[in-house]
Amino acid sequence: MKSGLIQCWRDRLPVTASTPIITLGEGNTPLVQADRVAKAAGLPPGSVFLKVEGANPTGSFKDRGMTLAISKALESGATGVLCASTGNTSASAAAYAARAGLRCVVFLPKGKVAAGKLAQAVMHGAEIVEVAGNFDQALVMANEAAKSKGFALVNSSNPFRIEGQKTAAFEILAQLGRAPDNHFIPVGNAGNITAYWRGYRQAGATPRMFGWQAAGAAPLVSGKPVASPATLATAIRIGRPVSWAGAIAARDESGGMIGKVSDAEILAAYALLARTEGVFCEPSSAASVAGLLKLARLGKAPAGTTVCVLTGNGLKDPGIAARFKPKMRRMKAGGAIKL
Ligand code: F0G
Repeated sequence: MKSGLIQCWRDRLPVTASTPIITLGEGNTPLVQADRVAKAAGLPPGSVFLKVEGANPTGSFKDRGMTLAISKALESGATGVLCASTGNTSASAAAYAARAGLRCVVFLPKGKVAAGKLAQAVMHGAEIVEVAGNFDQALVMANEAAKSKGFALVNSSNPFRIEGQKTAAFEILAQLGRAPDNHFIPVGNAGNITAYWRGYRQAGATPRMFGWQAAGAAPLVSGKPVASPATLATAIRIGRPVSWAGAIAARDESGGMIGKVSDAEILAAYALLARTEGVFCEPSSAASVAGLLKLARLGKAPAGTTVCVLTGNGLKDPGIAARFKPKMRRMKAGGAIKL
């Protein structure tokens, strides 16, 4: 059995026999049929699937790009990597860099990184630069710092990140045995929608691409950068996406759309997934399903087979889960309980 997506898809990736492969066995994530989501959207059973990217080694889709970006950084002789991040990229970079024996420096927006992600960066030994500003400002600093000798930038402007991430589209085609008609995905810095579209295109598939931003951080919907993005979905709290052109190309070439969902809509989808599908994703990830449910309410849910990407694991962000009231009773030890 092949372990990791570079081994699995190496003929479609920019590696050679001499590339050192740094892998944690990423990729090959579950594609789960979601009939409760389908029902909530007024769609028939068997029409909606969830690509559960939280099942990757560090709990998000970032591992797909990171296995390649870190392998290539090592191949090029880098001694360190760096990135700006809303949390998941830093967690993934820190883990793969630890494995590769590289220094890892992460620029994080102060107070806006979920607890689980920060714990990962700390434990994997990343050098953390806490920036009193937002992600977009942290990225400017990371870009500048990337001029330091021996360092490789592993944000999604690094072309190897997009190459690695495109493999998720190959997996979906193999898992479904055909191309989906519609692909729903959260959009922040817009690298992932760019990567999926590239992967689908390279495999000869053309699903309609539906990207979803948080309403308070929706530059691709308004058509202009957002100076102070605001959303509880901190992973996609981004006002100036780097892969802007890639997202627009995916939308237009596929005949899709990029829309926005409110924080309330995101939380409703997050809870629905956890309570009825048994899938715990992080709030930002639920933007894809929130978008599907929003279109359904408008009578515009697209026909055919729909894949919704759930980009990260719910355990990443315990702070948001703590806002929900548990079904709980308190008892003395040894007391009898009637259910
Ligand atoms: N979902 C999650 C869980 C993310 O962490 C991100 C991005 C996205 C969706 C959006 O993906 O940027 O490719 O459009 N997180 C980045 C980070 C920005 O730093 O971890 P995108």
